Amino acid sequence: MSFQAKPRVLFSRQEIEATVRKLAAEISRDYQGKHPLLLGVLKGSFMFMADLIRLLDFPLEVEFISLSSYGRGKESSGKIKVVRGLRSQVRGRDLLVIEDIVDTGLTVAFLLDYLRKKRPASLKLCALTDKPSRRQVPVTIDYLGFTVPDKFLVGYGLDWDEKFRNLPDICVSEE
Ligand code: PRP
Repeated sequence: MSFQAKPRVLFSRQEIEATVRKLAAEISRDYQGKHPLLLGVLKGSFMFMADLIRLLDFPLEVEFISLSSYGRGKESSGKIKVVRGLRSQVRGRDLLVIEDIVDTGLTVAFLLDYLRKKRPASLKLCALTDKPSRRQVPVTIDYLGFTVPDKFLVGYGLDWDEKFRNLPDICVSEE
């Protein structure tokens, strides 16, 4: 991919909106009467998180975590570290992790394991997109938006070299 590559729309903003509504309805049904902590994984999840929580009509809290990985990409060594940890207490809380994409699964596998040790009352995963063809470790996604092909995706929070996060559609950018 180059800077000149023009991202091609894979899922339009209208399709994303409909899918976020569907996810919000499922989450609202399951968390009604609870007071969950929604945990976004920076940076990619910020736009999805912002749209999703506006559609949730019950009390909730928002938290973010930042992770970094080393030697991933082609090598996929999967060494992940917490860069910005949690500011909220997790023990005894209903915790819902919000991800933009599950690719190899190494990030969420690490994160769910890290969070489980903090003894939340419940722990679930909501991912806007899933690229199962790239999976290296098994991951259960409780709330899933789109299953995506093994293409490089940008837009709606997803980046290529920190660019394109602001595109309102989910696009393919590798031709
Ligand atoms: C992306 C995405 C997930 C992770 C998925 O984050 O937001 O957290 O990669 O990949 P995996 O399933 O192979 O572990 P990235 O490291 O690109 O950071 P960003 O969210 O700041 O763009």
